[in-house]
Amino acid sequence: MTNIRAAITGVHGYVPDYVLTNHELAKYVDTNDEWIVSRTGISERRILKGEGKATSDMAVEAIKGLFEKTGTRPEEVDFVVCGTVTPDMMFPDTANIIADKLGIRNAFTFDVGAACSGFLFSLATGEKFIASGSHKKVLVVGADMMSAIVDYQDRSTCIIFGDGAGAVLLEPARDEGYGIIDSILKSDGSGVVNLHQKAGGSLRPASHATVDAREHFVYQNGRPVFKAAVSGMASVVKEIIRRNGLTADDIAWIAPHQANLRIIESVASMTDFPMEKMMVNIQKYGNTTAATLPLCLWEWENRLKKGDYIILTAFGGGYTWGATLMRWAY
Ligand code: ACO
Repeated sequence: MTNIRAAITGVHGYVPDYVLTNHELAKYVDTNDEWIVSRTGISERRILKGEGKATSDMAVEAIKGLFEKTGTRPEEVDFVVCGTVTPDMMFPDTANIIADKLGIRNAFTFDVGAACSGFLFSLATGEKFIASGSHKKVLVVGADMMSAIVDYQDRSTCIIFGDGAGAVLLEPARDEGYGIIDSILKSDGSGVVNLHQKAGGSLRPASHATVDAREHFVYQNGRPVFKAAVSGMASVVKEIIRRNGLTADDIAWIAPHQANLRIIESVASMTDFPMEKMMVNIQKYGNTTAATLPLCLWEWENRLKKGDYIILTAFGGGYTWGATLMRWAY
């Protein structure tokens, strides 16, 4: 066993300029601002526009900002892992494309799926490579262009999702006691029936029939997903606090996946956290899938103090869910 602990030493995010408001969505589907705000907490989301633009472009913008902030040079990066369900292409991985666009030549790179848990699962993957001593500068990215797979004729899903990207730099913690302490990661494949994108893979290769059946879009059965998200995130948050000998009072902040404000409120109440400790920016970005957690950390960065205990928690398609406990290292 090694004693190396991985720490986040910088975070940066990117959201596209175009703001898609609830009022604009009400022109496309039978919905209204009041319903969307009261049922989800979302007022607007960002959409990536422009011919030839893709998920990697948002990730590249986030990482450029991260490099500038942390004084990192592309040649120093030795591993890039990207959580995404909206890769630029079916293959190769978007992490490879991101690395190429940034001139990262000394790293190995790959994607992690895991839907809305993509960043959390990627973070745990990066953390293991640092902890093993094999890698020293890891970029962990969460990036999704959900507008590419959302059906703007389906009012139950198009209101939720938005586009965005965030990235953190992971390095060996400089000071003892700081950095990532523990992660709990869970999967339950029986959830596939309630949340999936059916076509485009080997089961339903792209064809006129799959396009006509709108099978290249997100399918979600909202109610069971809502319940599973609340119980899944609440149980891992409680467990990670308990098994590390802490109490809710010790935790400064929770960064929860931003899928629905009511889900966040339920998780807070089931885990005895006041809403003031929950990072919430869903009102302006909606659900950016793998990008929600780094976008929260980016927005809260100036409020985080060295030594703060922070929990990240997510739930998404798969089902996949989990929690990570860390002591903020800067
Ligand atoms: N505007 C107006 N009415 C609507 C809308 C809308 N945009 N969408 C649905 N409705 C209607 C429905 O048709 C239904 O009408 P009916 O009662 O006449 O049949 C009614 O509102 C209630 O529908 P529900 O689906 O039960 O609404 P609910 O309160 O559950 O909200 C939502 C739907 C927002 C999708 C919610 O279920 C949810 O947030 N689910 C979880 C999402 C989540 O966590 N996903 C996981 C991460 S995503 C990922 O991993 C990719």
